[in-house]
Amino acid sequence: MYSAKVMDHFINPRNVGIIDDANVVVQVGDPGCGDSLLIFIKIAEERIQDIKYKIYGCGAAIATSSVASELVKGRTLDEVLQLTDENIAEALDGLPPEKMHCSNLAARALHTAVYHYRTKMCGEGTTEPVVDGSG
Ligand code: FES
Repeated sequence: MYSAKVMDHFINPRNVGIIDDANVVVQVGDPGCGDSLLIFIKIAEERIQDIKYKIYGCGAAIATSSVASELVKGRTLDEVLQLTDENIAEALDGLPPEKMHCSNLAARALHTAVYHYRTKMCGEGTTEPVVDGSG
């Protein structure tokens, strides 16, 4: 049912953890009643220097968070905004159709992080974690 890449990232997820001096922290989903992803991102010169995360969810959610962290490390913020659910699924050699929505957490968290970071850089943001509990 799952590709070898999904199983690899599920069993051995990359970049799990927290970043104490992250520039932006975003939570998507709801840890109280379902799948949830908390990401920490370190940004410098419009580029992702480092990314860590904590994930609570199914095997596909773990695998998509892991591969997404690898896909965006070192990328520019504009490139991160181009990343889609489909790109993440393709990097795992596909997901079963009923699991495609699981890739949505990572893409949504990353896009929210970039928007929040850019807002913060304009002086309108906050240093508190951004919580996007929709969906
Ligand atoms: Fe909900 Fe995978 S994240 S089933």
